[in-house]
Amino acid sequence: MTGIFFSGTGNTRFCISRFLAAIDGEHKLLSIEDGTAVSAISEEKEIVFAYPVYYSNLPKIVRDFITDNRDLWRGKRIFVIATMGAFSGDGAGVSARLFKKFGAEIIGGLHLKMPDCIGDVKALKKSPDENRKIIAAAAEKIDSAAKKFSDGKLSREGLNVFYHLAGLFGQRLYFSGKTKHYTKNPKISSEKCVGCGNCEKLCPMKNIHISDGKAVSGDKCTMCYRCFSSCPQKAITIIGKEVIVQYNFKDYLGKE
Ligand SMILES: Cc1cc2nc3c(=O)[nH]c(=O)nc-3n(C[C@H](O)[C@H](O)[C@H](O)COP(=O)(O)O)c2cc1C
Repeated sequence: MTGIFFSGTGNTRFCISRFLAAIDGEHKLLSIEDGTAVSAISEEKEIVFAYPVYYSNLPKIVRDFITDNRDLWRGKRIFVIATMGAFSGDGAGVSARLFKKFGAEIIGGLHLKMPDCIGDVKALKKSPDENRKIIAAAAEKIDSAAKKFSDGKLSREGLNVFYHLAGLFGQRLYFSGKTKHYTKNPKISSEKCVGCGNCEKLCPMKNIHISDGKAVSGDKCTMCYRCFSSCPQKAITIIGKEVIVQYNFKDYLGKE
């Protein structure tokens, strides 16, 4: 089994690796940022595909990966995992409909509530202990979904018309513009930035570069919060105006 994922701050990577480890000890797991992902997909019939939900929609980088490789999906059997901080409606459905359009069969869907990764907006902020409990609950749900998968009883979260309506009216209609294009982000404080280059190395879009000792961003941000969460100077914001908490799944590793 091959797993393909995108993860800004680590939640989705954790979820898909745990799921795959439980269903197939010999699985392959690749990020869409990995240059070998496309050839790995072309060699497989059945794929687990995972991503975080942004505004009840696909992150632009994920939508582009799916549509740029539209010929890849014909005849594939795809199980979709969507991670989210609170609510997505049809988080799995948003990619499932695209995959189907490109000729894939959707064999199931799984929604996983994980800690919210947006660290510059006050809403939804949880304490580290609460986050650990959220991760523990997700881990339990993953294990149970993996067992069902192995027994041939695949969950179908996010895939039917009721989820679709919930996603559409719950959020997507109001926020449809937010993930349509890449954005002119992140905002980097030139006073705080020391030009360490961390963000430049980590950005999945290669949207940040160091110029005259300072990080400078372009207009191709997919809003994944990886740079935000990894900036040692707390010099970066994206949606909000101040750094409240930098979320990184690895801070919780081994503690869930
Ligand atoms: C730009 C953005 C928009 C988001 N929108 C939603 C949302 O609509 N609903 C939700 O439940 N979580 C939302 N989240 C939270 C993430 O989906 C969640 O924290 C996810 O598990 C992060 O995964 P990652 O660590 O693999 O990047 C959003 C996060 C970002 C960065």
